[in-house]
Amino acid sequence: MTSRPDALLPFPDSTEVTSAGLAVGGCALTGIAAEFGTPLYLYDEQSIRTRARSVVEAVAAGPVGSRAAFALKSLSTLGVLRVLQQEGMSADCASSGEIAAALRAGFLGSQLVVHGNAKSETDLQAAIDADAGLVVLDGRDDAERLAALCAQSGRTQDVLVRIAPGIDVDTHRHIATGHHGSKFGMTPAEGAELLRTLPSGLRGRGLHVHLGSQILDAAPLVEAARWLPSFAKAEGIPLDVLDVGGGLGIPYLPGQDSPDPGTHTANLVAAITQVCADEGMPVPQIIVEPGRSIVGTAGTTLYSVLGIKKVGDGSTWVAVDGGMGDNLRVGLYGGTYAPVLAARPIDPSTGSVRIAGRHCESTDVLVDGIELPEVHVGDVIAVPATGAYHQTMANTYNLFGRPAAVLVGNGDATLITRRESTDELFLRDV
Ligand SMILES: Cc1ncc(COP(=O)(O)O)c(C=O)c1O
Repeated sequence: MTSRPDALLPFPDSTEVTSAGLAVGGCALTGIAAEFGTPLYLYDEQSIRTRARSVVEAVAAGPVGSRAAFALKSLSTLGVLRVLQQEGMSADCASSGEIAAALRAGFLGSQLVVHGNAKSETDLQAAIDADAGLVVLDGRDDAERLAALCAQSGRTQDVLVRIAPGIDVDTHRHIATGHHGSKFGMTPAEGAELLRTLPSGLRGRGLHVHLGSQILDAAPLVEAARWLPSFAKAEGIPLDVLDVGGGLGIPYLPGQDSPDPGTHTANLVAAITQVCADEGMPVPQIIVEPGRSIVGTAGTTLYSVLGIKKVGDGSTWVAVDGGMGDNLRVGLYGGTYAPVLAARPIDPSTGSVRIAGRHCESTDVLVDGIELPEVHVGDVIAVPATGAYHQTMANTYNLFGRPAAVLVGNGDATLITRRESTDELFLRDV
């Protein structure tokens, strides 16, 4: 067993190079691929627990009731949600489906923070039925629809109002959400007005902000957290609860660096505490909503090589048995990855190859140019940093069933999602 070279840094914490090749959670990846088939999502339990614990501990430095709500949109597989629930996280849900997932995984209704820029009556009713702790309003229509449902059930619902403070972040424009013109949230002035004039049945508890995702420079996140208490005080609106969203990025490539999620959360709590002291106001309950920074690095996707060919321009295509059906990030916002061969992860390169997905779109390319050792048909390719926004975005384009998923740790691999069979693809057709 040797220590982990830099090229493998985007892989999960427990990754080792062994005589059998790359191992995660004490399991050789080639063995896991043979046992469960490919494509396969693999999650390292230790990486998930370590990050969840550090964020839960850091936010607990805030007033009682402060909490870390895991963003289910990043990963909603029950086998992982149960781990996060055990670690003391709450749950950020953006649909009736995500509410159902959180409840099935054991989260209490009071631990749910319900989001969405276009919540239907079904979503809002699911929040009410779950006795959700907080619903985050995205606009006045949202408030009126929720109030009408609350009136029917005689319920008073605690709410936050989401505002887009106009703070720009350095991330892909498709995953920035807090700028002027964003489809999410309200302008600060309109948000404050909504909090002052909420329909009856809704109890305004404070503000929510989420600036975007895959943010590697945390300074704007801290800036937003610092600005909100002063804004609430100036507007004279309640701030019992301040939810500063998620958004922290992870390294996808060797050499990229990202802030530690626990340290970042501690910085947010310290910034809010300080500004409240400066403003002479009580510190609100603080909520953070990390997704990617908890599970992103924990995930690795395994593929098998189905074909290798040189084409007209001299480049070499390596075709694998997955692609945009299990990884939409490349097509959606140009996601980049640094895969390795599972059996020979640190062998020297014999040249650059392009890794093609199996779907009928020319853009279904997982990696357009990567140095690898000589690749053979049947080799297993391991793509790191695929724990967040991969399995949740999986689809059945070309009628390929969605991949299976396993949780690994202490040398054991547990199946947590079955592979979708061809028969299952037709269950909804009538
Ligand atoms: C409201 C809200 N909270 C939390 C998150 C989680 O973000 P991330 O996975 O970047 O931490 C998102 C994702 O975009 C979001 O929209």
